[in-house]
Amino acid sequence: MSEPNTAVAGGTGNGSADVPALHLKNLVKHYATRRGTVRSVDGVDLTIRKGEILGLVGESGSGKSTLGKLAVALAEPTSGSVVIDGTDVSRLSGRELRRRRKSFNIVFQDPGSSLNPRMTVGEAVAEPLRIHRIVERRGEARKVAEILDTVGLRPEIADRYVHMLSGGQRQRVSLARALAPEPTLLVADEPTSALDVSVQASVLNLIADLQHDLGFACLFISHDLAAVEYLADRVAVMYLGRVVEVADAESLFTRPLHPYSEILLKAAPLPDPDAQRTRERIVLGGDLPSPLNPPAGCRFHPRCPIAVDRCRTEEPELREIVRPGGATSSFACHLVDDQGVRPPLIADMPSG
Ligand SMILES: Nc1ncnc2c1ncn2[C@@H]1O[C@H](COP(=O)(O)OP(=O)(O)OP(=O)(O)O)[C@@H](O)[C@H]1O
Ligand SMILES: [Mg+2]
Repeated sequence: MSEPNTAVAGGTGNGSADVPALHLKNLVKHYATRRGTVRSVDGVDLTIRKGEILGLVGESGSGKSTLGKLAVALAEPTSGSVVIDGTDVSRLSGRELRRRRKSFNIVFQDPGSSLNPRMTVGEAVAEPLRIHRIVERRGEARKVAEILDTVGLRPEIADRYVHMLSGGQRQRVSLARALAPEPTLLVADEPTSALDVSVQASVLNLIADLQHDLGFACLFISHDLAAVEYLADRVAVMYLGRVVEVADAESLFTRPLHPYSEILLKAAPLPDPDAQRTRERIVLGGDLPSPLNPPAGCRFHPRCPIAVDRCRTEEPELREIVRPGGATSSFACHLVDDQGVRPPLIADMPSG
Protein backbone atom coordinates (compact mmCIF):
# COMPACT_ATOMS: atom_id res chain seq x y z
CA MET A 1 0.00 0.00 0.00
CA SER A 2 1.76 3.13 -1.13
CA GLU A 3 -1.02 5.51 -2.01
CA PRO A 4 -0.29 9.21 -1.78
CA ASN A 5 -2.24 10.93 0.95
CA THR A 6 -4.41 13.04 -1.31
CA ALA A 7 -7.62 14.56 -0.06
CA VAL A 8 -10.58 12.82 -1.64
CA ALA A 9 -13.65 14.79 -2.61
CA GLY A 10 -16.73 13.52 -0.84
CA GLY A 11 -14.60 11.23 1.27
CA THR A 12 -14.53 13.41 4.32
CA GLY A 13 -16.83 12.31 7.08
CA ASN A 14 -19.15 14.63 8.90
CA GLY A 15 -18.32 14.92 12.55
CA SER A 16 -21.53 16.64 13.57
CA ALA A 17 -23.65 14.87 16.15
CA ASP A 18 -26.94 14.82 14.21
CA VAL A 19 -25.44 12.93 11.28
CA PRO A 20 -26.10 9.25 11.99
CA ALA A 21 -23.20 6.83 12.25
CA LEU A 22 -25.00 4.63 9.72
CA HIS A 23 -27.93 5.36 7.47
CA LEU A 24 -29.26 2.61 5.23
CA LYS A 25 -31.59 3.97 2.57
CA ASN A 26 -33.98 1.68 0.75
CA LEU A 27 -31.25 -0.91 0.71
CA VAL A 28 -31.65 -3.95 -1.53
CA LYS A 29 -29.39 -6.96 -2.02
CA HIS A 30 -30.53 -9.60 -4.47
CA TYR A 31 -28.45 -12.61 -5.44
CA ALA A 32 -28.94 -14.16 -8.86
CA THR A 33 -28.81 -17.94 -8.44
CA ARG A 34 -29.63 -20.87 -10.70
CA ARG A 35 -32.95 -21.24 -8.89
CA GLY A 36 -33.88 -17.59 -9.31
CA THR A 37 -33.37 -14.28 -7.53
CA VAL A 38 -32.76 -14.50 -3.80
CA ARG A 39 -34.14 -11.36 -2.14
CA SER A 40 -31.83 -11.42 0.88
CA VAL A 41 -32.32 -7.75 1.77
CA ASP A 42 -35.36 -6.24 0.15
CA GLY A 43 -35.84 -2.55 0.92
CA VAL A 44 -34.42 -1.67 4.34
CA ASP A 45 -34.33 1.80 5.87
CA LEU A 46 -32.43 1.94 9.12
CA THR A 47 -30.38 4.41 11.12
CA ILE A 48 -27.83 3.95 13.86
CA ARG A 49 -27.01 7.05 15.83
CA LYS A 50 -23.50 7.89 16.92
CA GLY A 51 -22.45 5.87 19.93
CA GLU A 52 -25.59 3.73 19.85
CA ILE A 53 -25.88 -0.06 19.92
CA LEU A 54 -28.61 -1.30 17.60
CA GLY A 55 -29.52 -4.96 18.08
CA LEU A 56 -30.62 -6.88 14.97
CA VAL A 57 -32.71 -10.00 15.49
CA GLY A 58 -34.76 -12.35 13.33
CA GLU A 59 -34.89 -15.98 12.32
CA SER A 60 -32.09 -17.72 10.48
CA GLY A 61 -32.19 -16.66 6.83
CA SER A 62 -33.95 -13.34 7.43
CA GLY A 63 -31.02 -11.38 5.97
CA LYS A 64 -29.16 -10.14 9.06
CA SER A 65 -25.65 -11.10 7.96
CA THR A 66 -26.27 -9.80 4.46
CA LEU A 67 -27.35 -6.48 5.97
CA GLY A 68 -24.27 -6.48 8.21
CA LYS A 69 -21.95 -7.02 5.24
CA LEU A 70 -23.67 -4.28 3.25
CA ALA A 71 -23.27 -1.94 6.22
CA VAL A 72 -19.48 -2.25 6.11
CA ALA A 73 -19.22 -2.34 2.31
CA LEU A 74 -18.21 -6.00 2.12
CA ALA A 75 -21.09 -6.56 -0.27
CA GLU A 76 -22.30 -4.22 -2.98
CA PRO A 77 -25.95 -3.24 -2.80
CA THR A 78 -28.23 -4.08 -5.73
CA SER A 79 -29.83 -0.69 -5.10
CA GLY A 80 -30.18 1.84 -2.32
CA SER A 81 -27.34 3.30 -0.33
CA VAL A 82 -25.15 2.88 2.72
CA VAL A 83 -24.22 6.20 4.27
CA ILE A 84 -21.58 6.06 6.99
CA ASP A 85 -21.01 9.25 8.92
CA GLY A 86 -22.38 11.31 6.04
CA THR A 87 -20.49 9.55 3.23
CA ASP A 88 -22.23 7.24 0.79
CA VAL A 89 -19.75 4.34 0.82
CA SER A 90 -21.71 2.42 -1.80
CA ARG A 91 -20.61 5.03 -4.34
CA LEU A 92 -16.90 5.17 -3.50
CA SER A 93 -14.18 3.97 -5.84
CA GLY A 94 -11.95 1.12 -4.66
CA ARG A 95 -9.22 3.44 -3.54
CA GLU A 96 -11.45 5.89 -1.68
CA LEU A 97 -13.18 2.96 -0.04
CA ARG A 98 -9.86 1.53 1.17
CA ARG A 99 -9.00 4.87 2.67
CA ARG A 100 -12.33 5.04 4.52
CA ARG A 101 -12.24 1.44 5.70
CA LYS A 102 -10.63 2.26 8.98
CA SER A 103 -13.79 4.01 10.15
CA PHE A 104 -15.99 0.92 9.94
CA ASN A 105 -15.34 -2.71 10.67
CA ILE A 106 -16.92 -6.07 11.34
CA VAL A 107 -16.31 -9.01 13.68
CA PHE A 108 -17.77 -12.39 12.83
CA GLN A 109 -19.15 -15.35 14.71
CA ASP A 110 -16.13 -17.57 14.14
CA PRO A 111 -12.98 -15.67 15.09
CA GLY A 112 -10.87 -18.55 13.71
CA SER A 113 -11.92 -17.94 10.13
CA SER A 114 -11.09 -14.23 10.10
CA LEU A 115 -7.64 -14.63 11.65
CA ASN A 116 -4.59 -16.11 9.98
CA PRO A 117 -3.55 -19.00 12.27
CA ARG A 118 0.10 -18.62 11.27
CA MET A 119 0.33 -15.06 12.47
CA THR A 120 1.33 -14.18 15.96
CA VAL A 121 -1.17 -12.17 17.95
CA GLY A 122 1.18 -9.20 17.73
CA GLU A 123 1.33 -9.43 13.94
CA ALA A 124 -2.44 -9.84 13.69
CA VAL A 125 -3.06 -6.68 15.71
CA ALA A 126 -0.26 -4.74 13.99
CA GLU A 127 -1.63 -5.49 10.51
CA PRO A 128 -4.52 -2.99 10.54
CA LEU A 129 -2.23 -0.41 12.15
CA ARG A 130 0.12 -0.73 9.17
CA ILE A 131 -2.60 -0.81 6.54
CA HIS A 132 -4.12 2.38 7.86
CA ARG A 133 -0.75 3.89 8.86
CA ILE A 134 -1.86 4.52 12.38
CA VAL A 135 1.51 4.48 14.10
CA GLU A 136 5.10 4.57 12.97
CA ARG A 137 7.00 1.30 13.11
CA ARG A 138 8.93 2.20 16.24
CA GLY A 139 5.76 2.94 18.18
CA GLU A 140 4.04 -0.19 16.94
CA ALA A 141 4.91 -2.69 19.69
CA ARG A 142 3.75 -0.31 22.36
CA LYS A 143 0.51 0.44 20.50
CA VAL A 144 -0.15 -3.30 20.09
CA ALA A 145 0.36 -3.86 23.83
CA GLU A 146 -1.98 -0.96 24.55
CA ILE A 147 -4.70 -2.38 22.30
CA LEU A 148 -4.30 -5.88 23.77
CA ASP A 149 -4.74 -4.36 27.20
CA THR A 150 -8.00 -2.69 26.12
CA VAL A 151 -9.44 -6.06 25.13
CA GLY A 152 -8.26 -7.68 28.36
CA LEU A 153 -5.24 -9.61 27.02
CA ARG A 154 -1.79 -9.60 28.62
CA PRO A 155 1.09 -8.19 26.53
CA GLU A 156 2.99 -11.55 26.54
CA ILE A 157 0.27 -13.03 24.35
CA ALA A 158 1.61 -10.97 21.43
CA ASP A 159 4.26 -13.64 20.78
CA ARG A 160 1.83 -16.55 20.64
CA TYR A 161 0.39 -17.90 17.44
CA VAL A 162 -3.29 -17.36 16.82
CA HIS A 163 -3.93 -21.10 16.50
CA MET A 164 -2.73 -21.60 20.10
CA LEU A 165 -5.45 -19.40 21.55
CA SER A 166 -8.79 -20.36 23.08
CA GLY A 167 -11.99 -19.30 21.30
CA GLY A 168 -12.56 -16.48 23.77
CA GLN A 169 -9.00 -15.20 23.34
CA ARG A 170 -9.33 -15.36 19.57
CA GLN A 171 -12.51 -13.32 19.67
CA ARG A 172 -10.69 -10.75 21.83
CA VAL A 173 -7.95 -10.60 19.18
CA SER A 174 -10.60 -10.11 16.46
CA LEU A 175 -12.06 -7.25 18.48
CA ALA A 176 -8.57 -5.81 18.95
CA ARG A 177 -7.97 -5.92 15.20
CA ALA A 178 -11.36 -4.46 14.37
CA LEU A 179 -11.02 -1.64 16.90
CA ALA A 180 -7.34 -0.83 16.32
CA PRO A 181 -8.13 1.83 13.67
CA GLU A 182 -10.68 3.39 16.07
CA PRO A 183 -13.73 2.93 13.86
CA THR A 184 -16.90 4.94 14.37
CA LEU A 185 -19.00 1.90 13.40
CA LEU A 186 -18.59 -1.73 14.37
CA VAL A 187 -20.78 -4.54 13.05
CA ALA A 188 -20.70 -7.57 15.34
CA ASP A 189 -22.31 -10.58 13.63
CA GLU A 190 -23.09 -13.13 16.35
CA PRO A 191 -19.76 -12.44 18.02
CA THR A 192 -20.32 -14.89 20.89
CA SER A 193 -22.41 -17.68 19.39
CA ALA A 194 -19.41 -19.88 18.49
CA LEU A 195 -17.92 -19.49 21.97
CA ASP A 196 -18.22 -21.74 24.95
CA VAL A 197 -21.16 -20.62 27.10
CA SER A 198 -18.77 -19.98 29.98
CA VAL A 199 -16.92 -17.23 28.10
CA GLN A 200 -19.87 -15.69 26.23
CA ALA A 201 -20.75 -13.36 29.08
CA SER A 202 -17.21 -12.05 29.44
CA VAL A 203 -16.99 -11.26 25.73
CA LEU A 204 -20.39 -9.53 25.86
CA ASN A 205 -19.23 -7.50 28.84
CA LEU A 206 -16.08 -6.62 26.97
CA ILE A 207 -18.10 -5.35 23.99
CA ALA A 208 -20.26 -3.29 26.35
CA ASP A 209 -17.19 -1.81 28.09
CA LEU A 210 -15.34 -1.09 24.84
CA GLN A 211 -18.40 0.57 23.37
CA HIS A 212 -18.80 2.67 26.48
CA ASP A 213 -15.13 3.71 26.54
CA LEU A 214 -14.53 4.16 22.80
CA GLY A 215 -18.00 5.39 21.84
CA PHE A 216 -18.35 3.63 18.48
CA ALA A 217 -21.79 2.87 17.08
CA CYS A 218 -22.55 -0.83 16.84
CA LEU A 219 -24.83 -3.08 14.83
CA PHE A 220 -25.11 -6.10 17.10
CA ILE A 221 -26.54 -9.14 15.29
CA SER A 222 -27.60 -12.01 17.52
CA HIS A 223 -29.99 -14.88 18.11
CA ASP A 224 -29.37 -14.46 21.82
CA LEU A 225 -32.27 -12.22 22.83
CA ALA A 226 -31.01 -11.89 26.41
CA ALA A 227 -27.70 -10.58 25.07
CA VAL A 228 -29.54 -8.12 22.82
CA GLU A 229 -31.70 -6.93 25.70
CA TYR A 230 -28.58 -6.44 27.82
CA LEU A 231 -26.49 -4.61 25.22
CA ALA A 232 -28.74 -2.80 22.80
CA ASP A 233 -30.18 0.71 23.05
CA ARG A 234 -32.59 0.02 20.21
CA VAL A 235 -33.55 -3.17 18.43
CA ALA A 236 -34.55 -3.88 14.84
CA VAL A 237 -36.49 -7.03 13.97
CA MET A 238 -35.96 -8.48 10.51
CA TYR A 239 -38.25 -10.83 8.63
CA LEU A 240 -37.53 -12.20 5.16
CA GLY A 241 -35.35 -9.34 3.97
CA ARG A 242 -37.33 -6.51 5.58
CA VAL A 243 -37.27 -4.68 8.88
CA VAL A 244 -40.68 -5.16 10.49
CA GLU A 245 -40.13 -3.27 13.75
CA VAL A 246 -37.63 -0.87 15.32
CA ALA A 247 -37.97 0.30 18.90
CA ASP A 248 -35.95 1.11 21.98
CA ALA A 249 -34.96 -2.13 23.69
CA GLU A 250 -37.25 -1.68 26.66
CA SER A 251 -40.37 -1.07 24.57
CA LEU A 252 -39.57 -3.93 22.26
CA PHE A 253 -38.98 -6.45 25.00
CA THR A 254 -41.95 -5.38 27.13
CA ARG A 255 -44.51 -4.52 24.44
CA PRO A 256 -43.57 -5.62 20.93
CA LEU A 257 -45.98 -4.19 18.36
CA HIS A 258 -45.47 -6.43 15.35
CA PRO A 259 -46.97 -9.93 15.74
CA TYR A 260 -43.70 -11.43 14.48
CA SER A 261 -41.69 -9.60 17.15
CA GLU A 262 -44.02 -10.87 19.85
CA ILE A 263 -43.86 -14.45 18.63
CA LEU A 264 -40.07 -14.32 18.24
CA LEU A 265 -39.69 -13.10 21.83
CA LYS A 266 -42.16 -15.62 23.20
CA ALA A 267 -40.60 -18.52 21.30
CA ALA A 268 -37.19 -17.92 22.89
CA PRO A 269 -36.44 -20.15 25.87
CA LEU A 270 -36.35 -18.41 29.25
CA PRO A 271 -33.36 -19.02 31.52
CA ASP A 272 -35.65 -19.67 34.54
CA PRO A 273 -37.29 -23.13 34.18
CA ASP A 274 -40.32 -22.14 36.33
CA ALA A 275 -40.96 -19.09 34.23
CA GLN A 276 -40.43 -21.20 31.13
CA ARG A 277 -43.07 -23.76 32.28
CA THR A 278 -45.77 -21.26 33.16
CA ARG A 279 -45.41 -18.72 30.37
CA GLU A 280 -48.02 -18.42 27.66
CA ARG A 281 -46.94 -20.38 24.68
CA ILE A 282 -47.08 -19.12 21.13
CA VAL A 283 -45.33 -21.22 18.57
CA LEU A 284 -44.07 -19.83 15.32
CA GLY A 285 -45.78 -22.13 12.85
CA GLY A 286 -44.19 -23.26 9.59
CA ASP A 287 -40.80 -22.44 8.14
CA LEU A 288 -39.52 -19.12 6.97
CA PRO A 289 -40.79 -18.85 3.36
CA SER A 290 -38.18 -18.83 0.62
CA PRO A 291 -36.60 -15.46 -0.14
CA LEU A 292 -36.78 -16.55 -3.79
CA ASN A 293 -40.47 -15.90 -3.78
CA PRO A 294 -41.68 -13.92 -0.76
CA PRO A 295 -45.44 -13.98 -0.03
CA ALA A 296 -47.53 -11.13 -1.47
CA GLY A 297 -48.86 -8.45 0.85
CA CYS A 298 -47.33 -8.65 4.31
CA ARG A 299 -44.55 -11.24 4.09
CA PHE A 300 -45.50 -12.56 7.50
CA HIS A 301 -49.19 -13.12 6.73
CA PRO A 302 -49.04 -16.91 6.08
CA ARG A 303 -47.71 -17.43 9.62
CA CYS A 304 -49.56 -14.63 11.38
CA PRO A 305 -52.36 -15.79 13.71
CA ILE A 306 -54.35 -12.56 13.25
CA ALA A 307 -53.88 -11.83 9.54
CA VAL A 308 -56.88 -10.35 7.70
CA ASP A 309 -57.59 -10.01 3.97
CA ARG A 310 -55.74 -6.73 3.64
CA CYS A 311 -52.54 -8.42 4.93
CA ARG A 312 -52.63 -10.86 2.01
CA THR A 313 -52.69 -8.17 -0.66
CA GLU A 314 -51.19 -4.93 0.63
CA GLU A 315 -47.61 -4.74 1.86
CA PRO A 316 -47.47 -2.62 5.02
CA GLU A 317 -44.95 0.26 5.12
CA LEU A 318 -42.92 1.08 8.23
CA ARG A 319 -44.94 3.58 10.28
CA GLU A 320 -43.64 5.54 13.22
CA ILE A 321 -45.58 6.30 16.38
CA VAL A 322 -44.71 8.00 19.64
CA ARG A 323 -45.43 5.68 22.54
CA PRO A 324 -46.62 6.70 25.99
CA GLY A 325 -43.48 8.02 27.71
CA GLY A 326 -42.16 9.61 24.51
CA ALA A 327 -40.19 6.81 22.86
CA THR A 328 -40.79 6.21 19.16
CA SER A 329 -41.40 2.85 17.53
CA SER A 330 -41.62 1.93 13.88
CA PHE A 331 -43.50 -1.09 12.66
CA ALA A 332 -44.88 -2.53 9.45
CA CYS A 333 -48.26 -4.02 10.35
CA HIS A 334 -51.78 -3.09 9.22
CA LEU A 335 -53.26 -4.32 12.49
CA VAL A 336 -51.47 -1.92 14.83
CA ASP A 337 -53.27 1.38 15.25
CA ASP A 338 -51.74 4.81 15.83
CA GLN A 339 -51.89 4.28 19.60
CA GLY A 340 -49.83 1.10 19.28
CA VAL A 341 -52.82 -1.15 19.95
CA ARG A 342 -53.63 -4.31 17.99
CA PRO A 343 -55.67 -7.48 18.54
CA PRO A 344 -53.99 -10.02 20.86
CA LEU A 345 -52.40 -13.04 19.21
CA ILE A 346 -54.36 -15.53 21.28
CA ALA A 347 -58.05 -14.75 21.68
CA ASP A 348 -58.45 -15.89 25.30
CA MET A 349 -55.16 -14.41 26.44
CA PRO A 350 -55.43 -11.40 28.74
CA SER A 351 -54.09 -8.58 26.59
CA GLY A 352 -50.99 -6.60 27.60
N1 LIG B 1 -23.93 -15.21 -1.62
C1 LIG B 1 -25.21 -15.59 -1.59
N2 LIG B 1 -25.80 -16.14 -2.67
C2 LIG B 1 -27.09 -16.53 -2.67
N3 LIG B 1 -27.89 -16.42 -1.59
C3 LIG B 1 -27.36 -15.91 -0.47
C4 LIG B 1 -26.00 -15.47 -0.41
N4 LIG B 1 -25.77 -14.99 0.84
C5 LIG B 1 -26.92 -15.14 1.52
N5 LIG B 1 -27.88 -15.69 0.74
C6 LIG B 1 -29.28 -15.98 1.12
O1 LIG B 1 -29.83 -14.80 1.66
C7 LIG B 1 -30.73 -15.10 2.72
C8 LIG B 1 -30.30 -14.35 3.96
O2 LIG B 1 -29.06 -14.86 4.42
P1 LIG B 1 -28.30 -14.26 5.69
O3 LIG B 1 -27.04 -15.04 5.84
O4 LIG B 1 -28.18 -12.81 5.53
O5 LIG B 1 -29.32 -14.61 6.87
P2 LIG B 1 -29.13 -14.46 8.44
O6 LIG B 1 -30.31 -13.70 8.94
O7 LIG B 1 -27.79 -13.91 8.74
O8 LIG B 1 -29.23 -15.97 8.93
P3 LIG B 1 -28.50 -16.67 10.20
O9 LIG B 1 -29.27 -16.22 11.39
O10 LIG B 1 -28.65 -18.12 9.92
O11 LIG B 1 -27.07 -16.22 10.22
C9 LIG B 1 -30.69 -16.62 2.88
O12 LIG B 1 -31.78 -17.16 2.18
C10 LIG B 1 -29.38 -17.01 2.23
O13 LIG B 1 -29.44 -18.32 1.74
MG1 LIG C 1 -26.14 -14.63 9.80
